[in-house]
Amino acid sequence: MKIDAVIFDLDGVLTDTAEFHFIAWRAIAHKLGVEFSKEDNEALKGVDREDSLKYILAKGKITVNASEFEELLKEKNNHYLTLINDINPSHLFDGVLHCFSILKKANIKIGLASASKNASLVINKLGIDSLFDFVGDAAAVAHSKPAPDIFLSVAQGLNVAPHNCIGVEDAVAGVTAIQSAKMFAVGIGERHVLTQAELVFPTMSEFDFNAVLATFSSRSTT
Ligand code: BG6
Ligand code: MG
Repeated sequence: MKIDAVIFDLDGVLTDTAEFHFIAWRAIAHKLGVEFSKEDNEALKGVDREDSLKYILAKGKITVNASEFEELLKEKNNHYLTLINDINPSHLFDGVLHCFSILKKANIKIGLASASKNASLVINKLGIDSLFDFVGDAAAVAHSKPAPDIFLSVAQGLNVAPHNCIGVEDAVAGVTAIQSAKMFAVGIGERHVLTQAELVFPTMSEFDFNAVLATFSSRSTT
């Protein structure tokens, strides 16, 4: 079996925006009087805006009405937009452009499967928007990660079969989404966190395409 496409998550994989989401969610949690730990942040990585707020409210056993809920979402996003205001191509993680150029030379398509409704803005600021063959639309899928929908929609947009795709994720919810889509999961981060991924590299600089190819091929033949 061959690899037709590599489909990347954005926040925490291509750039450090995961940290900005963390800062903005922590501010909302603290405003509501809810503790927000690194473990909470890990649980929220890859989780969409609405479900993230529901998690914080549930943790604090807080009930809000619909308009307060919308206000909190707006407040978090405005804070996040301020934090990413100065993002530019220098904020791209080391190794990303090198990885993309290897994929392009090998004729492998590149997709983006982010849960973020700000994804287009971020890849535009990073100057990499033209490098993607297809960018998924988080607002257009029915179920967010850990459901497979966004990865499947990108495979469809790229016109490739899911089982010929590699997904790359920094989040537990994202790795589950990739595997639910019947794709091969590569984690970026810590092995003890991304326990379900087929392969894990600590950072994108260490992304080793030959290792991915070798593991993918051996898995396909077993
Ligand atoms: C994911 C992030 O990529 O996008 C989450 O990992 C974030 O932390 C989610 O909450 C939704 O992002 P946005 O930009 O639509 O609020
Ligand atoms: Mg992520």
